[in-house]
Amino acid sequence: MAETVIGVIGGSGVYEIAGLEEAEWRRVDTPWGAPSDEILVGRLEGVTMAFLPRHGRGHVHSPTSVPYRANIDAMKRLGVTDIVSVSACGSFREEMAPGDFVVVDQFIDRTFAREKSFFGEGFVAHVSVAHPTCARLGAAVKAAAEAEGIRVHDGGTYLAMEGPQFSTIAESRMYRDVWGADVIGMTNMPEAKLAREAEICYVTVAMVTDYDSWHEDHGTVDITEIIATLTGNADKARRLVRRLPGLLGGAREACAHGCDRALEHAVLTAPDK
Ligand code: ADE
Repeated sequence: MAETVIGVIGGSGVYEIAGLEEAEWRRVDTPWGAPSDEILVGRLEGVTMAFLPRHGRGHVHSPTSVPYRANIDAMKRLGVTDIVSVSACGSFREEMAPGDFVVVDQFIDRTFAREKSFFGEGFVAHVSVAHPTCARLGAAVKAAAEAEGIRVHDGGTYLAMEGPQFSTIAESRMYRDVWGADVIGMTNMPEAKLAREAEICYVTVAMVTDYDSWHEDHGTVDITEIIATLTGNADKARRLVRRLPGLLGGAREACAHGCDRALEHAVLTAPDK
């Protein structure tokens, strides 16, 4: 049975994770080019962890220019079985307040300027993303957050927008009132879809930094506000991550939700092609 390897993709404000033993930044090359940065590989409580800062150290990749395919491919090459994405988001719900964490279980993908699949010309596959996150991983990150006393919401729909500009008030109200989204961010798609194609379990822990622009009492969102909240959230995120080996580590059972077998009934191209 395979060993669990936990991958963590850190969003804005999360550029390292402390306390890994035997840690080294490793360069991983992929057919899709270089990942966002080198990947910090080390061990925590005997479990291998691989950490990738999504925007690169120094925050050099915009949401559109993040090399999503290279990032997921590099994780796969390192043997990662479970990816926890830790990402900043805006909130469409009064009760999902800045500083809260949301375990995302659905996405609305509004991105349009990114490569979204490993499959295309010559090799065609259509995986299901009806359930785009892994419920087992979701339960683990929720338990980790609760153990750390972090206010956490179980389930939520993440609207992935292209950016880099924030939403207009009209867009913000439409996403919230008409489409029923709970949080908004710029990076978790196509990441979640690519993880499914790579048969890696994936979940998003969205850290609320702001109320986007729909909330009349909170004005519009700006990056200064986001960074201020993120600084507090990043510490919570690090504490949550340190709980993961205890919850997920050990021999890797087959995923009860089938994330690790997503391609079994997805490939259309004939084997001899
Ligand atoms: N990331 C953090 N806050 C955001 C917002 N309001 N919109 C899009 N991405 C975000």
